[in-house]
Amino acid sequence: MGIRITPSILNSDVSDLRGELAKIAGADYAHIDVMDNHFVPNLTWGLPVVEALLPVTPVPLDIHLMITDADRWAPAYAEAGAHSVTFHAEAAAAPIRLAREIRKQGARAGMALRPATPVEPYLELLGEIDMLLVMTVEPGFGGQKFLDSMLPKIRAARAAVSERDLPVWIQVDGGVSRATIERAAEAGADTFVAGSAVYGAEDAAAEVDALRALAQG
Ligand code: DX5
Ligand code: ZN
Repeated sequence: MGIRITPSILNSDVSDLRGELAKIAGADYAHIDVMDNHFVPNLTWGLPVVEALLPVTPVPLDIHLMITDADRWAPAYAEAGAHSVTFHAEAAAAPIRLAREIRKQGARAGMALRPATPVEPYLELLGEIDMLLVMTVEPGFGGQKFLDSMLPKIRAARAAVSERDLPVWIQVDGGVSRATIERAAEAGADTFVAGSAVYGAEDAAAEVDALRALAQG
């Protein structure tokens, strides 16, 4: 099973996003957290910043939309050239239509679940998406503690994907570090977002390598 390491720039030095992205050239993707202060109680950046980063990033961009109006905005990120665009199931009025729209614009379609959202009602949508994001913290802020209570959800998602032999990646986001990544991988995650673990480390590139080695087991 392929392993993907996706650092989040949320807690990086945002006065130098270009330089911060350059540090993680050895990662698979860079994770960009878009927050609107409605879906989550925090505000970050939007399409213009993503458009500015796309030509200068050494790795493709993985966009995580924590916004209420996902149906309206997600396709524009795909059209701009993002590698993947993930919307929250709780925020999408028409998730199947939205996933199809994202794919039509040439990006991978991801669907995210907040910790309180069960995966079972969404298993039937797995054939429509490329990635399922199981949040392992309450979305909104970096630096929170990994929720071990999400491990059964990751296992259930992995079982459903394997059973149907679907090419769906299972991403985890929140509290992923050297201390927790093995548990997430063992439960069935294959795509790992890590914010403070990477950008809080002395050497971000070395941290990416260390996380990858642990996830590969
Ligand atoms: C939180 C964001 C995460 C955040 C993760 O809502 O979705 O991507 O950057 O940060 P850490 O890895 O520090 O938990
Ligand atoms: Zn995120």
